Amino acid sequence: MRAAVVRAPGAGFEIAEISLAEPGPQEIVIDVKASGLCHSDLSISQHGMGFPMPVLLGHEVAGVVAEVGHAVTTVRVGDRVTVCMVAGCGICGECRRSRPYRCQRVSTLERGPEEEPRLRLETEGIAQFMGVGGFAEQVLVHQNLAIPIPSDIPFEAACLLGCGVVTGAGAAINTAGIRPGDTVAVIGCGGVGLNTIQGAALAGAARIIAVDLQPAKLELARRFGATDLVNGADCDPVEAVRDLTGGGATYAFEVIGRSSTAEQAVRMLAVGGAALLIGVQKAGTQLGLDLFGEIILPQRRIVGVAMGSTNPHIDIPMFASLYLQGRFNLDDLVSERIGLEEIDRAYDDLASGGVARAVITRF
Ligand code: APR
Ligand code: ZN
Ligand code: ZN
Repeated sequence: MRAAVVRAPGAGFEIAEISLAEPGPQEIVIDVKASGLCHSDLSISQHGMGFPMPVLLGHEVAGVVAEVGHAVTTVRVGDRVTVCMVAGCGICGECRRSRPYRCQRVSTLERGPEEEPRLRLETEGIAQFMGVGGFAEQVLVHQNLAIPIPSDIPFEAACLLGCGVVTGAGAAINTAGIRPGDTVAVIGCGGVGLNTIQGAALAGAARIIAVDLQPAKLELARRFGATDLVNGADCDPVEAVRDLTGGGATYAFEVIGRSSTAEQAVRMLAVGGAALLIGVQKAGTQLGLDLFGEIILPQRRIVGVAMGSTNPHIDIPMFASLYLQGRFNLDDLVSERIGLEEIDRAYDDLASGGVARAVITRF
């Protein structure tokens, strides 16, 4: 099959031929119909971040089940599915408490080093990012990663449920547990931050302040439910949020991955507020906060968030259903449909403006 691989950090995406192994007992092959370009894939392609190279990135996938291993029970050939990397083993203590994003046995969903690799580039095995490897015509994954979706949701919308939606909206609904009347600030209105905004709106937040540097992103944020827009290029976002909320927000979300904006998130909180850090930070990043004056005295919390604390088997069907009822916006997240060979160009455009998500729809 055709795939866009990264051979070394900074080398860009290269179209290559990959061979797939036969699915193991619990594995399935999915024909990929749509694959979203998440910022995490870009970070790994640029900086490696400790992942083995070469690597097949991409983890926001929707498609149709093409083959199933003999012990697969949750999906059948022909089913439409979204892939979500936080599937969980299903039987560890965290999974049994509906916290697959803290699964203690994730390695059991992968093949061991003594087994035939799932994918080969030329003759060598190639790593699948997060057990997916979605920038390709097909993915070979453990059955737990595949979540059945309704037949009337378009693939390009359905793929976003697998990462951007559960990460962004899940942080608002599951991790923070926003209640009607809470005030919320979201710093960074990309594909993930826009979902935090609409998750906060769904949960009933009274005020949702969107912070970004790009006017086009702020306009998009309004469409997803932001009540106030703050351009951090024109003012100090901390002062702006404190003014708009009369003293600070109940929750502030950092959805970029920078230390300066993570510090801003803490400083714009009300007494007792919580800063939720979603953006992936470079290894070694430190925060410069005054512990007593900025954390202890104002009783604030700093919470690290992974994958929106989602249980994807519950959340993905829920968001799909809300979308089909017109109560959750996925259509405006898809800014561009691209071919597999256009990944580098589409990521360049993400940096320059107006793009929420580019989605590969031609393989
Ligand atoms: N202040 C405010 N906004 C900023 C700043 C800043 N200093 N720097 C960048 N931004 C905005 C960009 O203009 C953009 O709209 O942050 C947004 C980031 O969006 P994307 O690049 O689309 O990233 P996204 O896919 O949403 O992911 C954001 O979440 O899951 C993680 O790995 C992901 O770390 C990444 C983060
Ligand atoms: Zn588990
Ligand atoms: Zn992602």
